[in-house]
Amino acid sequence: MDYVTLNNGLKMPQLGFGVWKVTDEEATPAVQKALEFGYRSIDTATIYGNEVGVGKAIENSGVPREKLFITTKVWNSDHGYENTLKAFDESLERLGQEYVDLYLIHWPTPKYDQYVDTYKALEKLNKDGRVKAIGVCNFDVEHLQRLLDECEVVPAINQVEYHPYLQQKELKNFCEEHKIQLEAYSPLMNGRDILHDEVIKELAEKYGKTPAQVILRWHLQTNVVVIPKSVTPSRIEENLNVFDFELTDEDMDKIAELDRNLRVGNMPSEMNKR
Ligand SMILES: NC(=O)c1ccc[n+]([C@@H]2O[C@H](COP(=O)([O-])OP(=O)(O)OC[C@H]3O[C@@H](n4cnc5c(N)ncnc54)[C@H](OP(=O)(O)O)[C@@H]3O)[C@@H](O)[C@H]2O)c1
Repeated sequence: MDYVTLNNGLKMPQLGFGVWKVTDEEATPAVQKALEFGYRSIDTATIYGNEVGVGKAIENSGVPREKLFITTKVWNSDHGYENTLKAFDESLERLGQEYVDLYLIHWPTPKYDQYVDTYKALEKLNKDGRVKAIGVCNFDVEHLQRLLDECEVVPAINQVEYHPYLQQKELKNFCEEHKIQLEAYSPLMNGRDILHDEVIKELAEKYGKTPAQVILRWHLQTNVVVIPKSVTPSRIEENLNVFDFELTDEDMDKIAELDRNLRVGNMPSEMNKR
């Protein structure tokens, strides 16, 4: 496993395990398998409805807590300072944890304009030591700039949709400039087109790897944190086996050329669902 160092000095595994669309019941065996195979970072969220299942897997795994990196997120309907503090307590209880490593704002929901207050609650949780690092998801440059202007702690992470068809160059540059680590969600494009791309398939053949492994290796070499999801044990294992080969600069360039601004998730500035 490779690690990145966040802007507050905290080390985070560069590859973690995502559990969106995994039921509470499915989450326990899936996360347990992931931990057995060697994943140490788990990405959940209040809205996924599986914090209890994830917590059970952590407890059953016997992996010492300090070796794990647990992320959860505050949902849109819990925005606002007091609501966020309450939502955090509830998440911790469901997870059966005394702290989480990373707490993220799930969406900026600009229509409600409460993300600055929400972020201030995250700053308090961070100050109180109940969260080791704080950050955001789905923030565009304008939302990040507002936090930089109006808050104290620079977000450690911006978790956004990112894969070869959506390379987010402007946002990535902005994050790098401000020492905000970009974290790639839907790194396999949610299991869609990119896995069948001809260029990716050719590279998979060349390296004796699967298309998913080539894509995940590309993520690592673009210096993002990446959190593929799978409930299939063979894929959970496959997605972790990406530390034993390296794509050449030429092959990285070939993948860079696949960018087509193609998004499978919501547009951050338009997502206001509560
Ligand atoms: N902050 C946010 O707003 C946000 C939004 C979306 C996602 N996320 C996070 O990012 C994580 C990953 O994103 P994601 O779940 O959207 O999608 P993803 O990881 O890009 O893709 C998951 C899909 O690909 C399939 N898959 C996984 N490994 C595969 C492999 N080796 N070969 C072929 N197919 C494979 C999975 O199928 P099976 O499960 O059936 O194996 C599943 O259908 C989420 O789980 C969540 O933690 C965050």
